[in-house]
Amino acid sequence: EKVGICVSGGLDSKTVATRLIQAGVDVMCFTADLAQPDEEDINGVIEKMRPTGATTIVVDLKDAMAGACFRMIRTQAMYDGGYWNTTGIARAVTVKGLIGAMKENGCTVLAHGATGRGNDQLRFERYTNVLAPDMKVYAPWRDPQLLEQFPGRKQMISFLAEHGIEVQSGPRKRYSTDANLAGLSHEAEDLEDLDTPMTIVEPLMCVWPQQAPDEVESVTLRFEEGNCVAINGESLGRYACMVKANEIGGRNGIGLRNALENRIIGTKSRGVYESPGLELLGFGLRAVYQAVMDRRSTQLFHTMSQNYAQQIYDGRVFDPQARAILAAVGVLAEYATGTVELGLYKGNIYFKALRDCPHTLYNPADASMEASDGLNPVSSQGFVEVLSVEALALAKAKQI
Ligand code: ARG
Ligand code: SIN
Repeated sequence: EKVGICVSGGLDSKTVATRLIQAGVDVMCFTADLAQPDEEDINGVIEKMRPTGATTIVVDLKDAMAGACFRMIRTQAMYDGGYWNTTGIARAVTVKGLIGAMKENGCTVLAHGATGRGNDQLRFERYTNVLAPDMKVYAPWRDPQLLEQFPGRKQMISFLAEHGIEVQSGPRKRYSTDANLAGLSHEAEDLEDLDTPMTIVEPLMCVWPQQAPDEVESVTLRFEEGNCVAINGESLGRYACMVKANEIGGRNGIGLRNALENRIIGTKSRGVYESPGLELLGFGLRAVYQAVMDRRSTQLFHTMSQNYAQQIYDGRVFDPQARAILAAVGVLAEYATGTVELGLYKGNIYFKALRDCPHTLYNPADASMEASDGLNPVSSQGFVEVLSVEALALAKAKQI
């Protein structure tokens, strides 16, 4: 048996790899390049892991991650508290991407570093189950032996030191961060206390609104069939588009959120999230959707959006239900073509203009409250009378 360990190059990864090698297990390490904003160079993970004696393979999943971001924008897949599911979606991309590389290298077990307490362990497990039913999952942080040996960072650091592996241990972090192109999620430790303001977080993609420029920044987004294809007139592929949207949104303090969400098992979790690009592009696409979706489609869309967000959160994006939603959203998104101009100011986004939107249902003449060539108010008389029939029946029956 060969174990493929998902690693980040951090203290936990080094400890697990070293510990397994020491126990005589055949291991190989894998890391996903998800365009982590906190990682200057993902290849650095190879160097960080080298002292453990394990080989590390970096799998480039940047474009897959960008594709996943675009699907989240198209479905407006925000979970509780407006959390853009940046961690949930990354687990799908990571497991799918790493499993291929693990199999090519003869691994039969996937090991991950999620705790035995949260959502991620469930996502790693389920994605491995559905994508590679022949593979097993090993979760070191649910293994009583490892938990006993390493109750905290101190024990890991001294264990590694015994094996001649140095760890730069800076000041203790006050919370845990998970990072990728879609955004950052900060949680645990000091953030668990609801007396602690979200502002203890040092944003990595964003700035706090008070640090944002004192001027409005205008941005123009071009959408075609529900996908952003250009920013400020510059045509961009989906990866470049996400990078640019993160930059623009981030410097204006867009997309910082505090959420008290419902975990998969039902307990609550407090998180602080950064997702400037998703927030910016999501807002822009919403403006197009509002113009092109009729009333019933809008209602259906809301239901599907909420449902899809839950599937991402729950680790079920490859399930038939999630794929069915995606296909249905595709039907509605086909008409979402338009150019949106937005103003960004200290954490706020406001609408400036919508242009070149060929499928818009918005007709100023029909919508106007002024005299116009559109809707004739005299014709409304009949419609109002018909509606009254039901209202009067309810009143007469004393049901109101
Ligand atoms: N609560 C978020 C989720 O379940 C984030 C989890 C991981 N975040 C972290 N900082 N380790 O999707
Ligand atoms: C973890 O448990 O490792 C991260 C937090 C979560 O998945 O909820």
